Amino acid sequence: MDSGSRRFADRFTPYDERSQPAMQVEGYKETLVRVPKRAFFKRPVTLSEITGPLNLGKKLDADLSDLSRTKAGGRALGQLIWVTGCLLDEDGEPVRGSIIEVWHANAAGRYIHKMDANSPFPEDPNFFGSGRCLTDHEGRYRYLTIKPGAYPVPNHPERWWRPPHIHLSVFGEGFMSRLVTQMFFPEDHLNAQDRILNSVPDPKGRQRMIAKGVPMLELPRADVVGFSHDIVVRGHRSTPFGL
Ligand SMILES: [Fe+2]
Repeated sequence: MDSGSRRFADRFTPYDERSQPAMQVEGYKETLVRVPKRAFFKRPVTLSEITGPLNLGKKLDADLSDLSRTKAGGRALGQLIWVTGCLLDEDGEPVRGSIIEVWHANAAGRYIHKMDANSPFPEDPNFFGSGRCLTDHEGRYRYLTIKPGAYPVPNHPERWWRPPHIHLSVFGEGFMSRLVTQMFFPEDHLNAQDRILNSVPDPKGRQRMIAKGVPMLELPRADVVGFSHDIVVRGHRSTPFGL
């Protein structure tokens, strides 16, 4: 095994279960159909999983980093927010040229999705709900959007609400460091009762899913509220995944 292979082999040590959310969350029936029911089995890690997909960022039109406006210039309703952060690996090294995909509900708490067809909340014709950005040479990313609204979990007798959150899909250095997770907002009282966030047993793991506020004077413009959120792929300090 050469030093490069050893480095990857070390990186793919199993997650600490306490840092990850429960596979099945009571009261959130989607978790019953979206996660494996059988035990995992080990498979060899081949070069394609370690190195692929190569240059995915260059192959895609990745700069869809302003979710607050339509192509025609329509402005989505809601508080403008600027989300910045770094994508890092477990050793604290920046992950460069990586795609971060983003999707979330509109300011009223509604998705444009067939599963949200019965939502009591209105659609926003100027908010499509998804975008993506690329990390730069220091692993930094940023996107502009509106703050999502909270929404009640449908079809559940005990009413509980998802707090405002942003879904994220990150490729990292390749398929083996793919991460699907959620970002939460600091000091939102709904965080304390969210069954997804609180299914992560380790409080430090939960904290890694909550963004930090950015002081207003550090923002490049006066009409946005800023949040910072570093994302870590693979290893014991990684951001927990979220369904
Ligand atoms: Fe959601």
